[in-house]
Amino acid sequence: MHPVMTGRRVLLIIGGGIAAYKSLDLIRQLRKQGASVVPVLTRAAEEFITPLSVSALAAEKVYRDLFDLTDEAGMGHIELSRVADLLIVAPATAHMMARMAGGHADDLASTLLMATDKRVLIAPSMNVRMWQHPATQRNLATLRDDGVLVVGPNEGEMACGEFGPGRMAEVPEIIAAIGAAFGAGPLAGKHIIVTSGSTHELIDPVRYIANRSSGTQGTALAVALRDMGARTTFVTGPARVAPPDGVTVVRVKTAREMQEAVTNALPANAAIFAAAVADWRVEHEATEKMKKREGEVLHLTFAENPDILAGVARMAEGRPALVVGFAAETTDVLAQAQAKRARKGCDWIVANDVSPETDIMGGTENAVHLVTGDSVETWPRMAKAAVARRLATRIFAHLCTG
Ligand code: C5P
Repeated sequence: MHPVMTGRRVLLIIGGGIAAYKSLDLIRQLRKQGASVVPVLTRAAEEFITPLSVSALAAEKVYRDLFDLTDEAGMGHIELSRVADLLIVAPATAHMMARMAGGHADDLASTLLMATDKRVLIAPSMNVRMWQHPATQRNLATLRDDGVLVVGPNEGEMACGEFGPGRMAEVPEIIAAIGAAFGAGPLAGKHIIVTSGSTHELIDPVRYIANRSSGTQGTALAVALRDMGARTTFVTGPARVAPPDGVTVVRVKTAREMQEAVTNALPANAAIFAAAVADWRVEHEATEKMKKREGEVLHLTFAENPDILAGVARMAEGRPALVVGFAAETTDVLAQAQAKRARKGCDWIVANDVSPETDIMGGTENAVHLVTGDSVETWPRMAKAAVARRLATRIFAHLCTG
């Protein structure tokens, strides 16, 4: 159950595309979250899924035909278009988008979309060329101008064998978009800790050992989680980018301070460790500025820093339901990430190659692998904000669906 979804009514228009099968799971997940679903099938959708499976999953009558509704003693199309808090079109085919943009009202689905006074969310799904066609892009712009909300499409391999944007958004992404449309984010009521930035390990009062982390990915993640309604505690070491608004910011310098701040911020539903924490600190920090002495070579001895991620991941009591580490590597990224996941006891590792030629550390883009218990996903290179949104959606899926 989810506070934002409980008691909400969603009118789900299922269009005629191969992704219609995902809408069956969407119905199931929405009901699991406490929402009820009024399903509408277009004629073409019935070629892909059956009214019986839809009505069984929704536990509601399936509306299929405009003339089902001519009996004004029953529910008329105007009434049906307004019984729900939100209308969703999934999959929204190129043809459906064109009809919506053109204001057609020649079947039940299009008539409901014309007659409603509620918000409309579409999840486009089509062949990559159809999606990229100027007509579809024109229709998309028109629909956006009309206030229609859009989720997806995603890029990937398509049922037709081609590759590119056009795949319908996954069910957790659609649910997240529905939550956002309801005003409160889908992560409302969840507390998530994000660590970010670098740490400064002091040598003396004016010198320290640092690393090149800019804090961009961690900050983007805090923004994405905040935007999905999570109460976010952002524990940040020194960073080049400013911390976001709307989150609880705890500024720290050293790894030990970061550990203390994380401990104080618990309990949490999830903890995401995006900070680049120094593994070692200078064992004996000088209390006064160290002086150069003729002919003397300086030797520093190091002590190991606490591993904040491993500490939280191995908590016997009160462990967050999801603990995520990051692995910045320059060689054997995947093997290192898998070993790190096991070593640290965390649930997921987000791994990336930070070799200088990738321009990732301190840059605006990231190319990551998501290593979970049973799978490794390689995401295409994209903006760090896009990585953050995708990860936030996965965090939502883990915490709130499944
Ligand atoms: O072992 P390594 O530093 O590569 O592990 C990276 C992951 O562990 C990151 O998620 C980082 O935030 C976390 N970490 C930590 N405390 C440390 C070292 C790393 O939380 N002392």
